[in-house]
Amino acid sequence: MPEMSFPFGPATQAEIYGGGADDLPIDPDEWESRAKAVLEPGPFDYIAGGAGGESTMRANREAFARWRLRPAMLAGNQQRDLHVNVLGTSPPAPFLLAPVGVLSAARPDGDLDVARAAAGAGVPWVVSTAASTPMETIAQTMGGAPRWYQLYWVNDREVVASLVHRAEAAGYAAIVLTLDTLQLGWRVRDLSNRYLPFILGEGIGQFTSDPVFRSRLSVSPEDDPQNAGTAMVGMFSNLGLRWDDLAWLRERTRLPLLAKGVLRADDARRVLDAGFEGIIVSNHGGRQVDGAVAALDALVEVRDALGEDAVVLMDSGIRRGADVIKALALGANAVLLGRPYVYGLAVAGQTGVERVIRNLMAEIDLTLALIGAHDVKALDRSWITLRP
Ligand SMILES: Cc1cc2nc3c(=O)[nH]c(=O)nc-3n(C[C@H](O)[C@H](O)[C@H](O)COP(=O)(O)O)c2cc1C
Repeated sequence: MPEMSFPFGPATQAEIYGGGADDLPIDPDEWESRAKAVLEPGPFDYIAGGAGGESTMRANREAFARWRLRPAMLAGNQQRDLHVNVLGTSPPAPFLLAPVGVLSAARPDGDLDVARAAAGAGVPWVVSTAASTPMETIAQTMGGAPRWYQLYWVNDREVVASLVHRAEAAGYAAIVLTLDTLQLGWRVRDLSNRYLPFILGEGIGQFTSDPVFRSRLSVSPEDDPQNAGTAMVGMFSNLGLRWDDLAWLRERTRLPLLAKGVLRADDARRVLDAGFEGIIVSNHGGRQVDGAVAALDALVEVRDALGEDAVVLMDSGIRRGADVIKALALGANAVLLGRPYVYGLAVAGQTGVERVIRNLMAEIDLTLALIGAHDVKALDRSWITLRP
């Protein structure tokens, strides 16, 4: 990827205007429609779809539309600071790439395309337990670039302990425990398509590379990938998990722990009481509970309850630079970008992900410039108002 030059916004504009013909999209919605054109319906709907009637997916976007920025003029902000620091990880702009499983559905070797794009830009990637590539291979591809590991707490604790141990050994700097997917939601598009990638042997790379998981199988995954996929699906459901269990995970690692999928203030407090360092407010992009509260609204509730010192990130509905600025103004320390980078991957592989990252960075920077702000870390509610 070309060196990111500062200021990102004007430099990227100049690069695009002066760069000549190029058929890759700029607009996030166009990346999505182009992805739809190149993918089979099964994989596309798996990425794009949500739970039930997809009302929460729509609510995520509507929540962003309810808030308006309050631009201030003549702030003398030709120097701007986009950096944040989240639990020792310092992204160059206030976003990370969200954990997304089964990227091989978007592109063969999709995990490695994303690994290279993220590493080139210095944008931290949260690598999924449902990735198709072993976390060690991804780590090797990313070299010294920042990365976190997203954990699904499956119903076999020895497997969970093994995944955590491997993530530490492979240089992941934090563990993100996803709380909202102890069972897959009612995903109408996937059910209609009869599409579940895991039983086809996709998205199980963390498991087939895991010695403890392998010890649970009677036939090796190489000889029978579908059997391994079925075993992984059988291990996935874990609705018996309780708050008290988090102490077990806390004892297993010295890495910072964050809980992802929190939507209520009382749950956010329980996460911190369990000795976790951070919270990711998220409704999994509307893929789990149809009718759930919009993530941006939940962010307001959680930040109000925890005060300004708690580490609170958010995702679900981030598409454009203004969304990032709004989330920060409402109290997020940083956000996670989800589907948009997956559409970039589907359309143009590593280059597509690089473009999506570059464009989002530029748009964040330009929004900051034009609202008269100097530093993303200083954004607060004075920068935002509810639409009348
Ligand atoms: C195809 C797909 C796969 C996902 N896989 C995971 C996963 O393995 N682990 C996880 O914690 N979240 C997963 N998520 C949720 C994302 O991390 C993130 O919360 C969500 O994409 C945010 O919504 P948005 O993309 O609409 O902004 C996945 C999302 C998508 C679209």
